[in-house]
Amino acid sequence: MSKLFTPLQLGNIILKNRVVMSPMCQYSAHDGFANNWHLVHYGARAVGGVGAIIQEATAVSPQGRITYKDLGIWKDEHIVELSKIVHFIHENNCLAGIQLAHAGRKASTPIPWNPSEKLEEGYSKWAIVSPSPIPFNINYQKPRELSVDEINIIINDFKEGAERAVKAGYDIIEIHAAHGYLIHEFLSPLSNQRKDDYGGNFQNRIRFLLRIIESIKKIIPKKVSLWVRISATDWEEDGWSVDESTELAEIIKKLGVDVMDVSSGGLIPYAKIPNKPNYQVPFANKIKNNSEIITGTVGLITNAIQAEEILENREADLIFVGRELLRNPYFVLEAANILENTIDWPPQYELSKFR
Ligand SMILES: Cc1cc2nc3c(=O)[nH]c(=O)nc-3n(C[C@H](O)[C@H](O)[C@H](O)COP(=O)(O)O)c2cc1C
Repeated sequence: MSKLFTPLQLGNIILKNRVVMSPMCQYSAHDGFANNWHLVHYGARAVGGVGAIIQEATAVSPQGRITYKDLGIWKDEHIVELSKIVHFIHENNCLAGIQLAHAGRKASTPIPWNPSEKLEEGYSKWAIVSPSPIPFNINYQKPRELSVDEINIIINDFKEGAERAVKAGYDIIEIHAAHGYLIHEFLSPLSNQRKDDYGGNFQNRIRFLLRIIESIKKIIPKKVSLWVRISATDWEEDGWSVDESTELAEIIKKLGVDVMDVSSGGLIPYAKIPNKPNYQVPFANKIKNNSEIITGTVGLITNAIQAEEILENREADLIFVGRELLRNPYFVLEAANILENTIDWPPQYELSKFR
């Protein structure tokens, strides 16, 4: 059995293999509601054999959406459609995860393939918030600085989002603390220049995330696994760093977070990022080997042998795959053949298992 197909037990859940579908926004929801697109999109990857799916950034409040077409989980009515997706994923022997998100100063933007906001009826910008009133860049709105009362409300939004996620049946809740969105904005001294308990030193900058983790941990049952996605570095001097990420990993592990999903960047528009295969693996490696936490790595991992090597080298425990799974929903079924592992295929597809 190759490492990629070695199961991983996390508390009460078992991933049947080490491939996780990385969260990827589809910008295809209406008023936050999931629809047939999401069911078919996630369903296909479950059929395709991934160990777990982390559903795209799902907003805990309407203000926290990146675009007006983001998925949402800010009202109970959202649960029914989400639970249909979870049900189908489970029927196909896959774990269902959801990424809870607030976009902070990167909220209220047009959808990527429709940059002219006028094109969509009913779209209007909404006011955005952040730890400090510093815009992402000149094309973005200037955010308003959050008051402590508003911070408490958002922490509660995450908690209520998690409650709804549990009701919908998700096995994994991932907190989105990466890519320059609200929680990352608190972590990084480049976007957080607050003078109160939520800004300044490391302990203060991580406070918002820790309070979200604690409030979620209190209400989710043991069988639900809590994961956190971070950007390990801002790729910018004086920004959030790999050392801080490692220190954070130790702290959140003690709070009951099972997995740190290690990405990078997204906070600084001009940051120079060396996009090449495995470019983020060293961050997961450092965090894994200097803290007790289980880590996931992501970024330009596109083939089975590459993924297997990362695991063999003990650089990470889980392989998050993004765009390759958009190109090829059956990446995992094919990876099993390439690595000469025999795995179950959906019986409907069994006749196509070998060429
Ligand atoms: C279309 C698209 C949407 C994305 N949306 C999210 C998201 O909702 N949450 C997130 O944490 N990352 C998001 N990402 C980043 C991916 O999860 C992943 O980290 C990134 O694409 C690098 O992995 P890859 O090279 O395997 O695609 C998105 C990426 C793409 C291409």
